[in-house]
Amino acid sequence: MLEVDVLTIFPELFAAFLETAFVGQARRAGRARIAAHDLRGWATDRHRSVDDSPYGGGPGMVMTPEPLVPAIEALAGPKGVGRRARVVHLSPQGRRLDQAGLARLAGEPALVLVCSRYEGVDQRVIDLAVDEEVSIGDYVLSGGELPAMVLIEGMVRLLPGVLGNPESIETESFRGGALLEGPHYTRPPIYRGLEVPEVLRSGDHAAIEAWRRQQAQDRTRVRRPDLLEGAGSSVSDRRPDRSSPPSGADARAADPDDSGE
Ligand code: ADE
Repeated sequence: MLEVDVLTIFPELFAAFLETAFVGQARRAGRARIAAHDLRGWATDRHRSVDDSPYGGGPGMVMTPEPLVPAIEALAGPKGVGRRARVVHLSPQGRRLDQAGLARLAGEPALVLVCSRYEGVDQRVIDLAVDEEVSIGDYVLSGGELPAMVLIEGMVRLLPGVLGNPESIETESFRGGALLEGPHYTRPPIYRGLEVPEVLRSGDHAAIEAWRRQQAQDRTRVRRPDLLEGAGSSVSDRRPDRSSPPSGADARAADPDDSGE
């Protein structure tokens, strides 16, 4: 059972997200309990304020320890012994999330996700009440709400029995050897002149498996060579074979960012 409480000044952002697709399904099936809480509910002044101007000057506002620390403690207990949930602050200053980090957090008995806004959070909130900071990538968003949803969606799909086909997790990118996935095709066999590769229609399962493996390796080498570094496999020393391009998109894309898809 995945247990997540989210602290935010925009709980309404989570309404559709929590009802839809695998996240909604997991909640309805009792595999996940996820709730978004309005931080202003812990504010004590009549303006229900959550932020103030920064000491030392500078642009923007900073989230104050009150009401953030009491809110976190209400949901997770005090930091240290007696804490009931791991408290994660979503922040560009955090450790960058990857698949291993998702799996680790999904294994926690309970989580409290703290979404900040404005220029950031008073450092004493982090020192007194937060267990770790997590970033979803090297770019800056206006708040932690979307990063919290990224984290939740990533964790929910790791829950046993949530995905219809458990095998799909194993063959995906970043599992089973840290390769990107190769291209996928479905009907029709020819679309606007582009044909599904013959091998996929051959019924030869060994040949299909070999083709997929090769496509995954070629695509990883072109787009994400960093994933192959230190993998210790022979694929990392080989150059992409330009005489037989791996797929339409990769063949067109000398620039790995220009996927053409
Ligand atoms: N809040 C703003 N930007 C963020 C990011 N990249 N990751 C996590 N939280 C954030």
